[in-house]
Amino acid sequence: MPVPTSALSARHQDLDLRLVEGVWPEGIRGDAVFSAPQVATDLPFALFGFGVLCRLSLRPGRHGADPDRFAWRTNVIDTPSQRLHAAAAETFNPGPTGYLSPFGFPNAANTAPLPWDGRLFATWDVGRPVEVDPVSLTFLGDVGSQRSWGPATLPGDSVLPFYFTTAHPVVDPERQCLWTVKQSFNMDGSTQLHVVHWDGLGTEVSVWPISNGVVFGSSHTVSQTREYLVLADSGNFKADPGEMAGGPRTVTIDDDAAVYLIRKDALLDSPIGTPHEGTPFRVAPTTGHFYACWDDSDGVRVLFEHMDRMDLGFKLQAGDLDALGRPVDPGLVGFYNTAMAPSTISEVLFDPATQQRKVEAHHRDEWSWNLELSAMDWSVAGMESPVLHHVAYQGYRPGAVSQRAVEIYGDRLGPLPGEDTPGSLVSFRRGSLEVHSRHEYADTGDHITSPAFAPDLDRARGGQHGWVVLPVLSDEGFRVELFDAADVGRGPVAVLASPNRECVPVMLHSAWMRDDDTPVDCERLRFGDDIPEGVLDSLGPELAAVVDGVVADLDVAVAARTV
Ligand SMILES: [Fe+2]
Repeated sequence: MPVPTSALSARHQDLDLRLVEGVWPEGIRGDAVFSAPQVATDLPFALFGFGVLCRLSLRPGRHGADPDRFAWRTNVIDTPSQRLHAAAAETFNPGPTGYLSPFGFPNAANTAPLPWDGRLFATWDVGRPVEVDPVSLTFLGDVGSQRSWGPATLPGDSVLPFYFTTAHPVVDPERQCLWTVKQSFNMDGSTQLHVVHWDGLGTEVSVWPISNGVVFGSSHTVSQTREYLVLADSGNFKADPGEMAGGPRTVTIDDDAAVYLIRKDALLDSPIGTPHEGTPFRVAPTTGHFYACWDDSDGVRVLFEHMDRMDLGFKLQAGDLDALGRPVDPGLVGFYNTAMAPSTISEVLFDPATQQRKVEAHHRDEWSWNLELSAMDWSVAGMESPVLHHVAYQGYRPGAVSQRAVEIYGDRLGPLPGEDTPGSLVSFRRGSLEVHSRHEYADTGDHITSPAFAPDLDRARGGQHGWVVLPVLSDEGFRVELFDAADVGRGPVAVLASPNRECVPVMLHSAWMRDDDTPVDCERLRFGDDIPEGVLDSLGPELAAVVDGVVADLDVAVAARTV
């Protein structure tokens, strides 16, 4: 079976999920939150649509659901970008990074939810993080003013600035701040990293350039230890200037990528804008996601989820043949080109003093195709002493691999399976990366997506005590499967399903957050105060009036949400 067509054709909606198998555990608490794009069929890359947040209550009977139902609540985030699009869609045109508009570059905020002590943020690689109301999932404010972020990645003042950032900023639990990045373009098409710091309280961020921090793909993840930030060139997406100019895609991803370690206190002890150098390393294969252990007393230990031969720049196009020579399902046009090799995970120990690195463990298997996403315990104790790391693999999907990509990669690929292979949920022991437990999805029509770890709050932290929440997309209807984190190989202990076999479209990252929903009262950036001087005049009266309308509507809406 290929990727379910409902992954691109279904629509986001509120659902009251029902328990259809097993017993729902009493001790589970909190909510699982998911980021997703609205599937935008008018864009060349359908996953660059405006962001949706989905929130699943892990206790029944909440948010209006019946006592035996589980509330799945969704909302399109009404960012200034989304509101401007809604008000003047005719002025928005498809572009390589989503929409282009006379207002600037819309921030889709569609990739990852980021909880922070009861607050909730949504992120994207090409925009500032945005804060949302954790219950209504509506917009509250952008993180940091344009003035404090400094020059945008593409120059020029606009209502919607183009900031090339990261989809995965991190919250520093000891310094109580958010670390993220900004990238600026170099003459050769590479980008220069800047570290961005926000204390969560006001409208200003602090920015320091990393003078040797050059990336050629994207800086998709920021990770951290107690003392260090870990930045990397993800390497799984490279801009192709020829393609952006309308030609065929010819750029391929590299075999390895750069990693930079940067001391947090060196940044904080220096004036804003002071250039810093990171300690450079290389890592292979390329990697989208990586997670460092908090304790760095013996070096910086990082678990890399490699995306071997996963080139996110190749998207499925009309007229493509798939890896088996069949016409690509028209329903999958706009989806990304899935993995062309099994995925590796590794644990690497970096010594910033000696610049030595050691691969301490790695794992790659015949079933490890399409490493999708993972679940871990994000508490300080969990990051300090991680025990289990849970990874969802989707299996090989020849129907979502284009011949164009296979031909361009040529002998850089190993043999490809002749058919779809099952997905798996796998728990690895941290340190050795031995397989602790594995559950296989025999039905290749099951598209397993982003897992979240819900901790058992009464037991030791580290990913071994609690539950793994795993959404499963299928043309047969949406399910959420719940696993005992200590033994995922047992299969799900409980399964929730949509009441009438409704399908849910593609989702990206997930997170677990508490469900006490304490409102946080703090100063937030007002959209109207973020528009650079003179920009409205340059738009002309008609478009300026559209912006003024969105400013006024957001003032009313945000004030109502934060009372
Ligand atoms: Fe990601």
